[in-house]
Amino acid sequence: MKPLIKDILALPAASQEVVVRGWVRTKRELKNFTFVEVHDGSALTGIQCTFEHTLPELSTGASVEIQGKLVPSPAAEQAVELAAQSLRIIGKADPASYPLQKKRHSFEFLREIAHLRARTATLGAVARVRSRLAFAVHEFFHQQGFQYIQTPIITTSDAEGAGALFQVTTLDLEALARSARAPDYQEDFFGKKSFLTVSGQLEAETYATALTRVYTFGPTFRAEKSNTTRHLAEFWMIEPELAFANLHDNMCLAENFLKFLLSTALCDCEADLRFFDAHIEKGLLDSLKSVLDSRFTHLSYTDAINELEKASPESFTCKPVWGCDLQSEHERFLTEKVVRGPIILTDYPKEIKAFYMKLNADGETVRAMDVLVPRLGEIIGGSQREDNLRTLESRMQELGINPQAYNWYLDLRRYGSVPHAGFGLGFERLVQYVTGMTNIRDVIPYPRAVGQAEF
Ligand code: 4AD
Ligand code: MG
Repeated sequence: MKPLIKDILALPAASQEVVVRGWVRTKRELKNFTFVEVHDGSALTGIQCTFEHTLPELSTGASVEIQGKLVPSPAAEQAVELAAQSLRIIGKADPASYPLQKKRHSFEFLREIAHLRARTATLGAVARVRSRLAFAVHEFFHQQGFQYIQTPIITTSDAEGAGALFQVTTLDLEALARSARAPDYQEDFFGKKSFLTVSGQLEAETYATALTRVYTFGPTFRAEKSNTTRHLAEFWMIEPELAFANLHDNMCLAENFLKFLLSTALCDCEADLRFFDAHIEKGLLDSLKSVLDSRFTHLSYTDAINELEKASPESFTCKPVWGCDLQSEHERFLTEKVVRGPIILTDYPKEIKAFYMKLNADGETVRAMDVLVPRLGEIIGGSQREDNLRTLESRMQELGINPQAYNWYLDLRRYGSVPHAGFGLGFERLVQYVTGMTNIRDVIPYPRAVGQAEF
């Protein structure tokens, strides 16, 4: 394989002959010199290549192969640069139409050219941090004795019971509409109604009650029409599930996991994170480091409501009341103003949480937990699972869920049932948190959200 620019930059500048390959980010001409900055995405910085002549045929965006000698650089930000000897333009980029010119582009504009935006400094840095974090997920669980399992993307059950499902069908809907016939799902591909999964949890539970510690890491889909900076219709979720574990074990795992991910990013993505701190979110590095040194505050939902009620009513557009789901404004108030650090909120009213969560002795609340972080709000949602067959069946009946459809899931409570727990970390929320990017649509290569599925 040909060397990457990041490896070339690390070489000593002892007049080594090297060949650089990448895309031209900028070109400056000064008298008879031309300074070309070439990037290949392997690092935040590119390599400066200096030519002792003008290069009228070369423009921003072109792909090039430049041969030359590494020399010490007079510039402060780099140790070496390339005294270029020859240039080969591999692919031209017409300056009249190439959309990424030197000026700063808005993230909204870049979303319209998502196929080219990874060539910008910010989106390139996001891609590297995202990739490193994905690998760190596997490293963490591998070290902790978890098995990585792949759960189905097409499913016939609604794991969260929230009804925000994308239907999957091969029925000819237009023909049905013309003939005014109602669809018969027995004739559909799977012989019944099917959907894109909202979570791999229920299937992960089945493997946790065989392999003890498992996790999933895959795409999930939600047809919620939430047009916010924190919601996607297609996002990646990491869902660990552990047997012989209660909510306390789950909280410890979530805290250790998040801290491992943050410390990996701080250690291995230092240059990219310094860039985000300087250009995207001032104070980002300090805020991430402070999380590493903190202990996550544990707070019950009921105590959280009490705290919110103490705040002046003008603090919120939606009044916090016991029994109502917390809004993002409430979550951020708790983590940014009350605690000033990460919080694990537990024991929510059963009405606002999914059917599978373990019922507390009070009969009102469930063993749920949400991890909230400053700047973002909810980053993790999880719970201890209901492991008692009768209680789970009656919860399903209360919620109008047909237990027959979940017979396989109930089997886990019939045969060798154990206390078990798990959670889901939204991968894009994590990348958002680590990079400080404002909009979740800018931390996934091709965002899918209400009204947006280009590319
Ligand atoms: O809280 P949620 O809905 O929990 C579950 O899906 C459980 N089955 C997880 C489990 O216990 N195994 O989602 C988990 C996390 C959220 O905390 C959030 O980080 C992320 O997934 N998330 C989203 N991220 C982006 N866009 C959306 N529409 C999201 N919905 C949830
Ligand atoms: Mg949640």
